[in-house]
Amino acid sequence: MNTIQLDHQGRLKHFLGIEGLPKALLIEILDTATSLMSVTEQTVKKVPLLRGKTIVNLFFEPSTRTRTTFELAAKRLSADVLNFNINTSSSSKGETLIDMLRNLEAMHCDLFVVRHAAGGAAHFMAQHVAPHISIINAGDGRHEHPTQAMLDMYTIRQYKGDFSPLRVAIVGDILHSRVARSNIHALMTLGVAEVRVIGPNTLIPKGIATLGVKVFNRLKEGLRNVDVILMLRLQRERMQAALIPSVHEYFQYYGLTEAILETTHSDAIVMHPGPINRGVEIDSSVANGERSVILQQVSNGIAIRMAVMAMTLKAIPELKDTR
Ligand code: CP
Repeated sequence: MNTIQLDHQGRLKHFLGIEGLPKALLIEILDTATSLMSVTEQTVKKVPLLRGKTIVNLFFEPSTRTRTTFELAAKRLSADVLNFNINTSSSSKGETLIDMLRNLEAMHCDLFVVRHAAGGAAHFMAQHVAPHISIINAGDGRHEHPTQAMLDMYTIRQYKGDFSPLRVAIVGDILHSRVARSNIHALMTLGVAEVRVIGPNTLIPKGIATLGVKVFNRLKEGLRNVDVILMLRLQRERMQAALIPSVHEYFQYYGLTEAILETTHSDAIVMHPGPINRGVEIDSSVANGERSVILQQVSNGIAIRMAVMAMTLKAIPELKDTR
């Protein structure tokens, strides 16, 4: 897979998934985002790194955070942004993904950010685009959501510093979660002490322990001594059968409440990629509480997406010149 993500010098060409990427590259993304974060905090929030480049947002599935932060990130790098509307496009008239891509290529676009219900869609596009074009995966089916994982790693580093001593728990619907998959790969590559997944067996992929994670079915037990709690929503749009008895019972056993949070390390942070389903996987008071860093994750998404776009389009040497 990495032969497609990296160019012959080992630099990022496409960003399709975390699996198999080297630790040094993940750290480079985090460090580049740190450099770019200062731009987002200035009065004039723009740098000319991607001036003259055209970025296309191709979202075949709904999105609030990812699509808007990609757009903001592109604008802060001075790129032109095209938010392609799938619903009013000719895909409904039978045009294939590749034909759509070829036509957008003919308009001299440089980078496609794609979200698709099909796992592997971004890889497929990367295999078929012209050599000068880059593809960034903004979430493909249950497979990967690599920029979400990197903004989560950025947030963890911001609050906790060194990755190596950390115990991280990912709670909920692991089976259908591309966020869980990308986060597990990122956390293992960055060398945290322990990754735990917590949920009912029906929502935990068989064989996940082979990735080196520990599996827990009981929430309180799984959260003991963790430093980071990453909550996930139930991805009911991807469930082909009823995998939990009821939302009410799910919340009873796996919902993060203040009472459960009190049994954990007092400095453990609470994360969630969004969208949040309050009263299903997390109590409102916890989502809004002082240990929640959920909105900080959203803010960090802008810097991470700026970094990944600038890196895939090889604009980072310019960044060093302009500092
Ligand atoms: N975290 C995330 O992917 O959110 P959106 O679906 O709103 O983009």
